Amino acid sequence: MTAFAAITSRRSIRGFTDQPVPLDLVNRILEAAARAPSGTNMQPWKATVVTGAALKRTSDAVLRARHAGEEHASEYKYYPDKFPEPYITRRRKVGWDLYTLVGIQKGDTAKMAVQHDKNFTFFNAPVGIFFTIDKRLEIGSWLDYGMFIQNVMTAAREAGLSSCPQVAWAQYHKVLRAELGIPEGDTIVCGLALGYEDESEIANTLRTERAPLEDWVTVVQD
Ligand SMILES: Cc1cc2nc3c(=O)[nH]c(=O)nc-3n(C[C@H](O)[C@H](O)[C@H](O)COP(=O)(O)O)c2cc1C
Repeated sequence: MTAFAAITSRRSIRGFTDQPVPLDLVNRILEAAARAPSGTNMQPWKATVVTGAALKRTSDAVLRARHAGEEHASEYKYYPDKFPEPYITRRRKVGWDLYTLVGIQKGDTAKMAVQHDKNFTFFNAPVGIFFTIDKRLEIGSWLDYGMFIQNVMTAAREAGLSSCPQVAWAQYHKVLRAELGIPEGDTIVCGLALGYEDESEIANTLRTERAPLEDWVTVVQD
């Protein structure tokens, strides 16, 4: 697979088959991804890989906390309080495109909650990864981190695997720490579902748009 094909064939997949992913393949992907650059080679990434009974246990614990109506807040802010344009339009479009595909109508909060819950089973993926970062590090290391996670998702494509990055988990850091022994000194950046795409899952027919180049590229020459 070319790098271009790996990058452009990656999509967020929200339904996986139960085909297992060997742990040595996961390790190879992580090892390749860690070739990502990082300021002064600090390599700020840390990963907790969950599979099998541990994945089920983690998933059950978070779903229990969710359904108990407990208050859980993320340790960091991913989104602004108020979304300016053009971001709000793009955000709404992808949300409604997904909901329309899976048959959720505007205002159907019960069905929305069921769809959102699927995050917490890693959309049935056989492998879940939690990415964490030392709280003492700064925003620059989060930049490095993004490059690393993109590498994970791109390298996964080479092996025929699909993925979905998931900030949804970050909210449940207390539950995840208790289940997985993630230290207090580390922030949970996001989760990643990893496995083989279930092509019969309607959500996976979603094709997201990108703004045309002329909207966001400025060429200055001469
Ligand atoms: C850091 C990060 C966190 C995300 N969190 C979630 C999530 O919690 N649940 C989800 O279904 N999708 C999540 N997404 C997927 C985005 O919705 C998706 O990347 C975007 O709509 C573009 O679609 P594509 O990935 O298929 O190209 C996340 C993406 C990123 C980069």
